[in-house]
Amino acid sequence: MSKPVTESIQLQDNQFLHPWEDIKKVGQNKRTVIANADGVYIEDSDGNKLLDGPAGMWCVNIGHRRQEMADAIADQIMQLTYVSPWSLTNTPAVKLADKLAQLSPGDLNHVFYTTGGSTAVDSALRFVMFRNNVLEQPQKKHIISRTNAYHGSTYLSASASGKSKDKNYLDFMDDTFHHIADPNLMDKPVAMSEQEYCRLRVGDLENKILEIGPDKVAAFIAEPILASGGVIMAPQGYHAGCLQVCRTYDVVYISDEVVTAFGRLGHFFASQAVFDIVPDIITCAKGITSGYVPLGAFLVSDRLLQSIDAKDSSIVFSNGFTYSGHPVACTAALKNIEIMERENIMQHVRKVAPYFQAQLATLNDLPVVTDVRGIGLMACVQCDINKDGDNTPAMDYAMDYAIGDRIDRHCQQLGLLVRPIINMCVMSPPLIINEAQIDELVEKLKKGIALAVIDAESDGL
Ligand SMILES: Cc1ncc(COP(=O)(O)O)c(C=O)c1O
Repeated sequence: MSKPVTESIQLQDNQFLHPWEDIKKVGQNKRTVIANADGVYIEDSDGNKLLDGPAGMWCVNIGHRRQEMADAIADQIMQLTYVSPWSLTNTPAVKLADKLAQLSPGDLNHVFYTTGGSTAVDSALRFVMFRNNVLEQPQKKHIISRTNAYHGSTYLSASASGKSKDKNYLDFMDDTFHHIADPNLMDKPVAMSEQEYCRLRVGDLENKILEIGPDKVAAFIAEPILASGGVIMAPQGYHAGCLQVCRTYDVVYISDEVVTAFGRLGHFFASQAVFDIVPDIITCAKGITSGYVPLGAFLVSDRLLQSIDAKDSSIVFSNGFTYSGHPVACTAALKNIEIMERENIMQHVRKVAPYFQAQLATLNDLPVVTDVRGIGLMACVQCDINKDGDNTPAMDYAMDYAIGDRIDRHCQQLGLLVRPIINMCVMSPPLIINEAQIDELVEKLKKGIALAVIDAESDGL
């Protein structure tokens, strides 16, 4: 039973239009109110403790409620709250740019600050288009992305996103954005080797560039792992193959590391360390401040920056934000990185990740679980019920939602926050999680899924 104070907040919450709000449900929503958090746990307003399975939204990497973070943020506010980034600068933003250049691969040595992941992607895409205009190639504007990609919620970043269910009722730039198949290994024909499948999917990129015309294709954008698409992992060599194709046709490679940077895969940046590529641009956000305050950025290579030249005496990139390089956000990022380095969080992730993946893989024993996949501290447990050849796609979809909803409800009662993406339980806990807490997560998820199945059966699903 919820306390009256919870009920009153839940009622008032209907004035807050949330991301992905179902407008028909405004007025009837009863969302869980999260009141406190500490380490890998959050607590609702009725005092129920939950293990934070998604680390907020893949962002609370160093865990909740760090005094040091609060002190650094408060001290910065008292020293310098804000300064315009147009004609002035500030020390935290400068120091953070230098730190990011050191941590990032290759010659990605310049940083453009934004307010989050969507604006990082949006600004990176605008930068690529700007470059081609300066280079007198105004026709080179087409962007290639993948199905099931998620790159954000601005007009450009949403146009780059490729989840069909998010395309209802909204407008997108359809004429210059293209989506090739994502490299989901679950879609690999049984008779095909992983290598052949890799060649097929890399070939999709080359074919698409040739179809549009290499002189018209500006950039390819890809998450190293398609995160909110359901932790879709490409076959070995896919990213390197795509980079090679991009180089052949002078197409900029944008690696969207909004989720994978800052430790999720055990490295500050995953592009080179895990996937062996040095892209032209990396976008990041979320874990850069561990979600304590909003910040995003794109890092650009010297090669790309230096290639921008024109006869004009100035070439202004007229793009930016009031909060670009916000001193408080940059201070939070610097402190966050300092904590990650001091506590060896990257090494910790690399050490516990195999245990995390192995324990989650035991869920394959449940008949409803059709796939467990993951890398580092990100994983997806996919559940499918009653899918047979006679179902329409709409029926399958309804089943997916039905099982996901039940898993969510049961896990929450057991003390684990899941919030599945439809029928996919994406687990990406704070990076400080230890083995005992991994056991707790897996045990609760297993129980929650089993109870959801019983529930679904008794409802005749
Ligand atoms: C890969 C990726 N890119 C971009 C974004 C957008 O970031 P934000 O929500 O901070 O705007 C997200 C958000 O989940 C993401 O997963």
